[in-house]
Amino acid sequence: MAAETYIHNGPLVIGAGLAGLSVALNTAPYKTLVLAPVALGVACSSAWAQGGIAAALSDEDSPEAHAKDTIAAGAGIVDELAARTLTDMGPETVRKLNDMGAPFDHAANGDFVLNREAAHGLARVARVGGDLAGKAILEAVVNAAQGATHIEIWEPAFALGLITSHEGDVIGAVVQHGERRVHVFAQAVIMASGGSGGLFAVTTNPANLRGEGMAMAALAGAVIADPEFVQFHPTGLKFGLDPAPLATEALRGEGATLVDKDGVRFAFEDHPDGELAPRDIVARAVHKANASGRGAFLDCRQAIGDHFPAEFPTVFASCMAQGVDPRTMPLPVAPAAHYHMGGIATDISGHTSLKGLYAAGECASTGVHGANRLASNSLLEAAAFGERVGETAITELRTPDPKDAIIPAVPPLVGAADLQRLREAMSLHAGLVRDARGLGELISLIEALETRYPGALPLISARLIAVSALQRTESRGSHYRSDYPHTSATAKRTFTRWTDVRAPQ
Ligand code: SIN
Repeated sequence: MAAETYIHNGPLVIGAGLAGLSVALNTAPYKTLVLAPVALGVACSSAWAQGGIAAALSDEDSPEAHAKDTIAAGAGIVDELAARTLTDMGPETVRKLNDMGAPFDHAANGDFVLNREAAHGLARVARVGGDLAGKAILEAVVNAAQGATHIEIWEPAFALGLITSHEGDVIGAVVQHGERRVHVFAQAVIMASGGSGGLFAVTTNPANLRGEGMAMAALAGAVIADPEFVQFHPTGLKFGLDPAPLATEALRGEGATLVDKDGVRFAFEDHPDGELAPRDIVARAVHKANASGRGAFLDCRQAIGDHFPAEFPTVFASCMAQGVDPRTMPLPVAPAAHYHMGGIATDISGHTSLKGLYAAGECASTGVHGANRLASNSLLEAAAFGERVGETAITELRTPDPKDAIIPAVPPLVGAADLQRLREAMSLHAGLVRDARGLGELISLIEALETRYPGALPLISARLIAVSALQRTESRGSHYRSDYPHTSATAKRTFTRWTDVRAPQ
């Protein structure tokens, strides 16, 4: 397909979830081009988030207490500057979203209604309509972006690779815009393409998110951080659907319990905080209960009961569509790939290791989540760091020279059956419990698929995850190695490049 050339005088934002749109809303007055792979506000992880957005909004709370919980959940490798920056920005970020029209739940006195979620020391999660936070926040942000005269949105449009200069700077992207293939040259390129849950057979993410942004950045030479750290949500609804509907953590915050098929509570067997222990611990407890045949169910009957439809309308609709009434029946649950703590290494202003390339949201790895993200810090990160990244990028705009461009090869698509094999192998060998033998098998499968689909983006992100998981010979946060069950005394982040992990050339 012949490609057109388009020179864009301003920043290019790849992705239109909460992070991408937050970047774009903060780049005025520079004309900003946003690529939205699917209809705005639909099928992106931000829109599917249920619980809400964490911030120190109550009198008993403080950004410092929020930072402490963030750092504790991250199991020793949280970047403390990133955590403090994020939690300091929390209250103002939520107020700005509120002013933009996000209809947060408020008490009669005007205070935000706050949910309790796991590993938070107190109720700190601002909610919307019970479990509609992501959808409602994104709707407000989409409206603001559509009304902003400096923002132009191409929809449907997605990037296939990053264009670099001969010096290695990022100067644009190869873009598929509907039927058109376009070489877009831009004054800054901001990756905000979301996570990688679709690489796993069981995920709460839209299935089209397979770490493509991380893969494109890695191919362009960017440093990738902590790719082995993938968070599994403890309570995906086990209805055999792909993606798996989420049963928000706020249900456990309201007192819902995890029970086996005999009704015996099991979460306290692994941690004194039971259902409200850090997410990785609860996820492994649920996995163990299912794997051992005990079964795992979320019992909301006593804690929520008849309030369920009003308090948790999204989860209620998902359950009723499968003929399961959460007011009268425990819900079958299983862990599901939910969030990637790893990604393109950035500082807290979104700078990557490549000039001209920035990253924001789930595809970025600032280190703020460490080895295990604290619940409801992801919407906060997307909105707060999105703002910082937008503000930074416009102070560093550079004019690209299309004559000095290295255009990347367009990556092949992985066939549906092979993709499913990869996803199942990722869940089995790079899922909640990993070991050297399984990761070796996974890498062999990736290698076999690479010969058939050289340069395919999902294979690049899968390899980054698998090789880094094999090289981390300890257990920490979301990364659990049954052959290395202990946590090393030295806490280190991973920083790697594609040339370090790819098959020998
Ligand atoms: C949830 O509502 O349980 C998900 C929120 C999150 O992943 O932070």
